[in-house]
Amino acid sequence: MAVKHKLMILPGDGIGPEVTAEVKKLTGWLESNSDISFEIEEDEIGGAAIDKYGVPLSDETLKKCADMGTILMGAVGGPKWDDIDYNIRPEAGLLKLRKELDLFANLRPAIVFDALIDASTLKPEIVKGLDILIVRELTGGVYFGEPRGIEDIGNGERRGFNTQVYTTPEIRRVGCVAFELARKRGNKIHSCEKANVMESGKLWREEITKLHQEHYSDVELIHMYADNCAMQLLRNPSQFDVIVTDNLFGDILSDEAAMLTGSLGMLPSASLGGDDKGLYEPVHGSAPDIAGQGKANPLATILSFAMALRYSFERSDLADRVEHAAQDVLTQELRTADIMAVGCTEISTNAMGDAVIGALDKAIAEAA
Ligand code: IPM
Ligand code: MG
Repeated sequence: MAVKHKLMILPGDGIGPEVTAEVKKLTGWLESNSDISFEIEEDEIGGAAIDKYGVPLSDETLKKCADMGTILMGAVGGPKWDDIDYNIRPEAGLLKLRKELDLFANLRPAIVFDALIDASTLKPEIVKGLDILIVRELTGGVYFGEPRGIEDIGNGERRGFNTQVYTTPEIRRVGCVAFELARKRGNKIHSCEKANVMESGKLWREEITKLHQEHYSDVELIHMYADNCAMQLLRNPSQFDVIVTDNLFGDILSDEAAMLTGSLGMLPSASLGGDDKGLYEPVHGSAPDIAGQGKANPLATILSFAMALRYSFERSDLADRVEHAAQDVLTQELRTADIMAVGCTEISTNAMGDAVIGALDKAIAEAA
């Protein structure tokens, strides 16, 4: 009997349950129509976990995630939990998951599909054919640096502080991932930091330079300040192939890159570490304003699952099929609200999931 691939699903908050439900449909379809099979477990993260277990990621859930190895997450956070302390907020559950599983390399591909070219706020000639991969360091930097806190400084005044910190091994290991990926693509890397004002940025630049000289001199390396990178992404995005950057700049630059593609609802991500574990999640958040209304775009989550097929389950063949099906749906001019355009048909989250499955069926029929 074929091995069952273990998949842990953490729907989370807001639109998370709606978009992950569409992936569950897809796993069912793949089991009936290919030789793959899954063992799926589900649990809570974020606000949903706070409501159920009192913490945003329980130790049991974390252990299950570690055992299962491959995790698909929806989204976390929402106004309901906005006033809670930072270390027990919904977001803290996700940060703990990333940190505890040592998922230090976050891959965020920003690809502009031809059918969506008009959904971008930039001119079509600027974004046509765009294919950028952001490699964001995910378990270090100011997100985790100590000390951090808010303290009283007397006279009713306070001081809030965080620490931006990177070590040589942290920079080198994410750098290696980025260089290796660049070799399989356009063979070019932009490394982004603020070496002009931050010591951690200066170290980042020096270590990436060293790594390049030692092992990757065949790859073109360009150093760029992060603010300039933000500007260049809008001015001339096609100059980029792979961008490697730290946790905070990566968070910001990937949201910006996502909008080049037309909608945050399109961007998938994969977070990988040293020992074969993988966390797959859409780049978008929990979008509480549209939660429960069937308006969310499930494509970022479906494409994240395709990344799981590719990187964790080593089934590039199936990943290709899912990605082509998503493109096919867009070519059929079916759109969720976030990517709606004149002349297209607006459909619900559920109908978008069904349309992807319809496109997979069609591809089988055409191949027969
Ligand atoms: C992301 C999100 C998260 C982050 C939040 C939800 C903690 O914005 O994955 O980009 O800041 O990393
Ligand atoms: Mg973000």
